[in-house]
Amino acid sequence: MTDAATEQSQQQPIPQTLSVTTKSFAALIAVLAITVAFSTSIRGALSSVLPKTSTATVRSMATTASPAAMKITKRPWAQRGHADHDWLYTFQTFSFASYYSPNPLHQSFGPLRVINEDRVKPSTGFGTHAHAEFLIFSYIVNGTLEHKDSMGNLENLKRGEVQFTSAGTGIRHSEYNRDSKDEVHFLQIWAKPNKSRLTPHYETKKFTDEQKKDKLVRIMEDTSRLGEKTDTSPIGLQADLSMDASILSPGKSVTHDIVAEGSRKIFLHNIMSGRTQPKEGGAKIKIGDVVLGEGDGAYVEGLAGPGKVEVESVGDKAAEFLLFDMGTKDA
Ligand SMILES: *[C@@H]1O[C@H](CO)[C@@H](O)[C@H](O)[C@H]1NC(C)=O
Ligand SMILES: *[C@@H]1O[C@H](CO)[C@@H](O)[C@H](O)[C@H]1NC(C)=O
Repeated sequence: MTDAATEQSQQQPIPQTLSVTTKSFAALIAVLAITVAFSTSIRGALSSVLPKTSTATVRSMATTASPAAMKITKRPWAQRGHADHDWLYTFQTFSFASYYSPNPLHQSFGPLRVINEDRVKPSTGFGTHAHAEFLIFSYIVNGTLEHKDSMGNLENLKRGEVQFTSAGTGIRHSEYNRDSKDEVHFLQIWAKPNKSRLTPHYETKKFTDEQKKDKLVRIMEDTSRLGEKTDTSPIGLQADLSMDASILSPGKSVTHDIVAEGSRKIFLHNIMSGRTQPKEGGAKIKIGDVVLGEGDGAYVEGLAGPGKVEVESVGDKAAEFLLFDMGTKDA
């Protein structure tokens, strides 16, 4: 159920017997209004008591504007590409390495080309290898990933950190788990830039759990939509793609404002807490009438901006998920 629907269903009709006190009630409201103007704490307390009719209406109108044509294709966790190389335990949303799906949806989606959910064992990793062109970002879920590259960067990336490399004309790097006992769990994501032969670029930024709790936090953003850079601004990339992250408590929902005008699509990925999806319970999110368990994704087509998309947490634990908003042109 959406926030708006919950709010509406909770509104009680005003009993007839109350109508005689309308005048004194109005006077009380006037006094309250003045008090509220001077007290933000009372305002906060009141807003949770008074019905939020106006915001609920605006919201529900806006949310129903685009989902009429919204087409959702679920990407069940176990239908992704999968390899267990002992040192590397990986799920691939899109065709990658020895995993190939002839379904065009699983080749690329807008500029999005790779989402690998990787677990690397202690004291192993990806040795030095080369990349060109792709925009590559690692979202660290748990553990520590060492990143070393030909631009002279060496970092130990931890939970909340996002490492971004625009490979452009070419770079070499390695990704290694130097820890002797804990595995590292991270998402490796690739997008195709809208321009080739860019100058290689490297950037790391941390986004805390606190920032993501029951909110959507913009992690990546098309440089043309970036605005002025601040401590909390997203990492810029040269593609019509944005990525948000959220850690959404059970029962809560978040509303995403589609980032650009015209035809858009969205991809959602619900991050896993274990090696397999829990048989019962776990983190679950809902878009439209589709529920995504841990490791499930969703291709959402037929969207248009301006518009809104709502995601609700319907599992029994907080769901950490990624939301990509992109242009419709495939990479
Ligand atoms: C993170 O990794 C450690 C060590 O491998 C493990 O004990 C812990 O349960 C993991 N936490 C999550 C949230 O997956
Ligand atoms: C490519 O993206 C950049 C911003 O990321 C934008 O300024 C530019 O106009 C785009 N170029 C093309 C050819 O779409």
